[in-house]
Amino acid sequence: MIHALAHIELNAIDLALDIVARFCGQPVPRSFFDGWMMVATDEARHFGLLSDRLSALGSRYGAMPAHDGLWQAVDATAHDLAARLAIVPLILEARGLDVTPSLLSKLHEVGDLETAEILDVIYNDEKRHVAVGAKWFRFLCARQRIDPARRFGELVRECFRGEVKPPFNDRARAEAGLTPTFYRSLSSLSQ
Ligand SMILES: [Fe+2]
Ligand SMILES: [Fe+2]
Repeated sequence: MIHALAHIELNAIDLALDIVARFCGQPVPRSFFDGWMMVATDEARHFGLLSDRLSALGSRYGAMPAHDGLWQAVDATAHDLAARLAIVPLILEARGLDVTPSLLSKLHEVGDLETAEILDVIYNDEKRHVAVGAKWFRFLCARQRIDPARRFGELVRECFRGEVKPPFNDRARAEAGLTPTFYRSLSSLSQ
């Protein structure tokens, strides 16, 4: 599990930096890029924490096979910044907010408090990442005078092949500015 999480964090560094590099010509305020550089720095710290934890347990990152699911999202959204923000921070990172609380309670159950502490740091930082995504997604929609929740639904149907499924961590999502109007109608169980 720790290896899988380290892999996600390593990819998250690339995902944040890809936004900065690929969309550097977009007419957005400079603070847009500062926000994603901050995210990339957080992801690097997360990867470091998990990588150190793997070493402490006698393993290392790279000891196990890993998937390229996250990088596929980069290809699927390379053509459009709004699509990128919809899928990377608002679907994939928001999913992390949904699943982390139960991972945390399992770690407490098995007594791995060191890893739990790391996940707690990650959980709090990830709320901020979703918030950066939500802020700029709303910015892009406002500039075009389109409804952000509706546009989000369209982009997710167009560019995301995975499932959007509950349980949703509504509280953490709302703290990040991602209100249920964005994702409820996308969930198969809501229909
Ligand atoms: Fe992270
Ligand atoms: Fe993140």
